[in-house]
Amino acid sequence: MSIPFSEIPSPCFLLEEKLLRKNLTLIKSIAEQSGAKIILALKGFSMYSTFDLVKQYVPGTTASSLNEARLGALEFGGEVHAYNVAYLESEFEETMQHCGHITFNSIAQWEKFKPQIQANKKKISCAIRINPEYSEVETDLYNPCIPGSRLGMTADKFNGKLPQGIEGLHMHNLCEKDSYALERTWLEIEKRFGSLLTQIQWFNMGGGHLMTRLGYDHPHLISFIKGVYKKYPNIKEIILEPGSAFGWKTGYLVSKVLDFVESGGKNVAILDCSISAHMPDCIEMPYTAKISDAEVTEKGNYVYKMGGLTCLAGDHMGPYAFKKPLKIGDTIVFEDMMHYTMVKTTTFNGVNLPNIGIWREDNTFKLIKSFGYEEYKARL
Ligand SMILES: Cc1ncc(COP(=O)(O)O)c(C=O)c1O
Repeated sequence: MSIPFSEIPSPCFLLEEKLLRKNLTLIKSIAEQSGAKIILALKGFSMYSTFDLVKQYVPGTTASSLNEARLGALEFGGEVHAYNVAYLESEFEETMQHCGHITFNSIAQWEKFKPQIQANKKKISCAIRINPEYSEVETDLYNPCIPGSRLGMTADKFNGKLPQGIEGLHMHNLCEKDSYALERTWLEIEKRFGSLLTQIQWFNMGGGHLMTRLGYDHPHLISFIKGVYKKYPNIKEIILEPGSAFGWKTGYLVSKVLDFVESGGKNVAILDCSISAHMPDCIEMPYTAKISDAEVTEKGNYVYKMGGLTCLAGDHMGPYAFKKPLKIGDTIVFEDMMHYTMVKTTTFNGVNLPNIGIWREDNTFKLIKSFGYEEYKARL
């Protein structure tokens, strides 16, 4: 059955449960075949109403803040890993309660919290994030290895030796990349950090592995990971922590047309959602989201830009060509809107956050949450 989008309370982030299960099934099978531990990066996808499903397929989550660590521990359970750009003294005790693996961004932060880690009753395995000084990410905003990056330690900081007490290394330099980019990164890591690789027990290869994208070469990823295990028998665990790959193409932002404005010969459809407040990556990355039943082009008979509800001049996207003229009340369905959307929304202009809902596998709609004045006010 196809989803009756016009009946979904608009605007709404709508997850399609069967598509999430499809991604999860693939991710689990890659983990089983390769021996890698694959965990969910909450920064990319934190829709905890799906966690009962997600935890059937992966053993845990990774957190980039205490709030995410709490969400992982309290709503997901299983393993919680953490990498924070810096830990706050006031939060570290609680971070240790939730997490079994903690990665530090700098050797100085490790030295600072080492006594607390060592005095802690529960054993916590610790790592340092490295900066491989190599990346294939084209957009600087998403490139952790641009010159002067604050993310991770460059090889010269180690003098060939792992700081005493450190058991793992962590790197993250990919964004929506394939396993060949990972392999090329690994060669660079071997060149720069080779002596450390023989000293560690685990290696976290970060996120950015878009293994659920059509055409991703799974056998290559599996054989690459097996090869690393074989070459470094001291490495007992390779961890991948994608976010996007979980939510990739699993849902929509459903919206409605409220008005039209014509200006300088261009038609703009004003929607009941916002590009900048609800789909900020479309402006930051930038990229033009796909709309069901429309083409991203300015050529055609019925061409419109999609305009958002905030007064930010740049809160628009497109143009899109539709097959027939749009009218007020029409439903517009933005595709692939589950990752890096809900986690990044704002209430700029006091614009409400979109509803959150699930299209269940039994073809029923479940409204998870809607937002109003209280949520807006609570942030201020
Ligand atoms: C340290 C770290 N791990 C994992 C991720 C998840 O990456 P992705 O959602 O691209 O897979 C990110 C994303 O920024 C990250 O910074």
